[in-house]
Amino acid sequence: MRTDTQTITRLEDYRPPDYLIDTVELDIRLDPAATRIRSVLKIRPNPAGRSGAPLVLDGDELLFHGLAVDGEPAPPDSYEATPEALTLREPPAGPFALTVDTEVNPSANTKLMGLYRSNGVYCTQCEADGFRRISYLLDRPDVLSVYTTRIEAEREEAPVLLGNGNLRETGEVEGTTRHFAVWHDPHPKPAYLFAVVGGDLARTAKTFRTMSGREVEIAVYVEPGKEDRSHYALDALERSMRWDERVFGREYDLDVFNVVAVSDFNMGAMENKGLNIFNDKYVLASPDTATDADYANIEAVIAHEYFHNWTGNRITCRDWFQLCLKEGLTVFRDQEFSSDERSRAVHRIAEVRTLRARQFAEDAGPLAHPVRPTRYREINNFYTATVYEKGAEIVRMLKTLLGDATFARGMERYFERCDGTAATVEDFLDCFAEVSGRDLGHFKRWYEQAGTPTVTVGTAYDPQAGTYRLDFRQETAPTPGQPDKAPLVIPVLLGLVAEDGGRLDCVSNNLREDGLFVLESATDSLSFEGVRSRPVPSLFRGFSAPVRVELDLPDSDLLTLLRHDTDPFNRWQSAQTVALRLLTALARDPSQAPRDEFPDAIGAFLDRSGRHDPAFTAMVLALPGETEIAQEIGRDVDPDAVHAARDRMKAALGHRLGERLRSLRDAFPPEDRYSPDAASAGRRALRNAALDLIAAGDPAGGERLAAEQFERATNMTDRLAALVTLSLIPGEVRETTLARFGELYAAEPLVLDKWFALQAAIPEEGTLARVRELMNHPAFAFSNPNRVRSLIGSFAMANPTQFHREDGAGYALLAEAVLALNGTNPQIAARLLTGFGTWRSMNAPRRAQAQAALERIAGAPNLSPDVLDIVQRSLA
Ligand code: PHE
Ligand code: ZN
Repeated sequence: MRTDTQTITRLEDYRPPDYLIDTVELDIRLDPAATRIRSVLKIRPNPAGRSGAPLVLDGDELLFHGLAVDGEPAPPDSYEATPEALTLREPPAGPFALTVDTEVNPSANTKLMGLYRSNGVYCTQCEADGFRRISYLLDRPDVLSVYTTRIEAEREEAPVLLGNGNLRETGEVEGTTRHFAVWHDPHPKPAYLFAVVGGDLARTAKTFRTMSGREVEIAVYVEPGKEDRSHYALDALERSMRWDERVFGREYDLDVFNVVAVSDFNMGAMENKGLNIFNDKYVLASPDTATDADYANIEAVIAHEYFHNWTGNRITCRDWFQLCLKEGLTVFRDQEFSSDERSRAVHRIAEVRTLRARQFAEDAGPLAHPVRPTRYREINNFYTATVYEKGAEIVRMLKTLLGDATFARGMERYFERCDGTAATVEDFLDCFAEVSGRDLGHFKRWYEQAGTPTVTVGTAYDPQAGTYRLDFRQETAPTPGQPDKAPLVIPVLLGLVAEDGGRLDCVSNNLREDGLFVLESATDSLSFEGVRSRPVPSLFRGFSAPVRVELDLPDSDLLTLLRHDTDPFNRWQSAQTVALRLLTALARDPSQAPRDEFPDAIGAFLDRSGRHDPAFTAMVLALPGETEIAQEIGRDVDPDAVHAARDRMKAALGHRLGERLRSLRDAFPPEDRYSPDAASAGRRALRNAALDLIAAGDPAGGERLAAEQFERATNMTDRLAALVTLSLIPGEVRETTLARFGELYAAEPLVLDKWFALQAAIPEEGTLARVRELMNHPAFAFSNPNRVRSLIGSFAMANPTQFHREDGAGYALLAEAVLALNGTNPQIAARLLTGFGTWRSMNAPRRAQAQAALERIAGAPNLSPDVLDIVQRSLA
């Protein structure tokens, strides 16, 4: 193994930069194969750095053309220029100007980092370290500069030229067919927030009046012809801006805010200052091409990137270890936004489902890491569910612990104090410690300690004395590099529910008024007095902490909660817990027969469901996923047994509840006009959840219903749901419908992505061959991250039985794809490779196959740092 060739970056080694760069003036002459960049940097020694140190600017695959210091060409022996660095041996002692000329080839840039072309559109991606692929710079987030960017291009090729900040000037380049635009961003920023765009793009725009009365032009740019699909994103942007003013008091700070959609993008979107660049799947929406889930995602991602303007851009990160400072906080903010715009309870359930599926899985495997890691070999591998989603949960816990008002004051202080700085997690926590007068040192462990804590709760009721006691114990399993774990500060929001659903008046001396109990040590107890009847505890209401809970409650108590709890999250959770118990038992011992109790309880729930939000009812109908069941089993997992258990349980539900489900569908007939609002989406979700179960219980009847729905559907949500249901029923109808869908949307890559994904997820032996065939489909391309994620990513992440085939053929397919992408797009290759993340929890034959596949990858020549890092950690 080549650990030796990899440099490790450590948090404790942080040193301030030796030089600061006050201004960056760029002149970028766009050209498909030879873009020239001239950069003028105003540099001065950093008083906090080492004086007299050489100046080492970062580069990556750069073609160097020349260097001048204070306008004078630099003598050749005064510097060294390689593709990776530009070193000025003895920089002037005072401020000086450096002029650097470089050249890059955007068309050949398949890594999609730096300046590249997507469908002919020039665009950039600089986070985390992509700027150095455009020009030499101190490419680190604690170097903040004011940027002025002149962009020049052929008018015909790139009529639209966009940069950060405000537009200063436009014009023709005399005597040529070229034109230019000059953009100026007055807000100092790190290089990772830099962006330019040039291309033939269509604009949809409106004027936004800020809370202080300033007018901002907000616009969404898409490929010409797709303007009608940009309205929802623009609307979501406007709502995000309004919400951030109202809820966090944050006003936008430039005259324009532009969003650009591109088809080739490694991630979801990027918060470049005033010029967000998006993966087009998070912008483009029409009823015919986007599902309700797409609309919700667009709203969330638009909000997320916009919210970064304050949490990320105005206040940025000192170093990349602090990534969660912007990401966890911004995810928290976008989750709050979506909860306000939609149903809070339903949104919370959706958040927790993803957290468990992705983050808990990560925490339980070889790639587990703290929310704030302390070392990395490749920072791009740390844009993880842990940093993002668990990072958001930590912020939410802080709010729960401090209370809404104190939390708001802490945020206020953070915005005031840290504005314009590159901050740390400590800076953030200090603000909350000050406004609350509390010591948050213990709480900070959440950032430092990896792994999901398990909280075990025992109960003891004494009817004579009228006392009730809850005994808590917390424990966190070892994770890589962290064998011993310390207790965390765990906020437990709870309440007691009477068995008959009535009120239970009782007192406890250790419970805050809103039902908060804080577990701070390894074990603790909470006692109640005056308890007149046996209570059922409702614990971790609203999922008040990202932990797994082990409860000694009987199923009957949980079903009481499903019926009577005032907390909607726990109503859902209690049904899930019962289902999970049954599913794990069934997976462990397939000779068991599923009992009717659970279906009957769900049936009774459905009978009362007129009182519920349809979206909530749909959530209750969805059984825990295979990943979650596998996690619960923990080790020696047999994915076939897990799948079979879930399948049988679904069939039992569908069978037992068939009539009710059919009448539910009839109660919510399709609407004539599609509207993406949460209430309409909820009705569609319920109708489609019912379809899914009906088909599980009665495949022939379900097939007829689904085929009919497919034909009649007037929107993509219903059409796709029908196709997903059909995809699970082998036979003629499935194959012809799949083929029809493929033809219908042959010209719609984002729709074909759904088609790739659902076929890759079919839990049948033939899927491997199907995926291989689809890899040859004319619409599939290894060069496009969305295609790769849809086909190969969903095979690895959404099809446990086939990816984890006992013969190792699923692993081999993924390994092949990883190696195919290793050279061209290492970030996507590494991301795919995380599909192996749970390999150690599989049973012995699968473990052996996975290990062999990982070792084959590890032994391949020319591995990128990205892939090498993941493969080595996976095998460690
Ligand atoms: N910073 C982006 C976001 O979370 C994600 C991203 C990271 C995009 C790296 C591109 C590259 O909003
Ligand atoms: Zn983000």
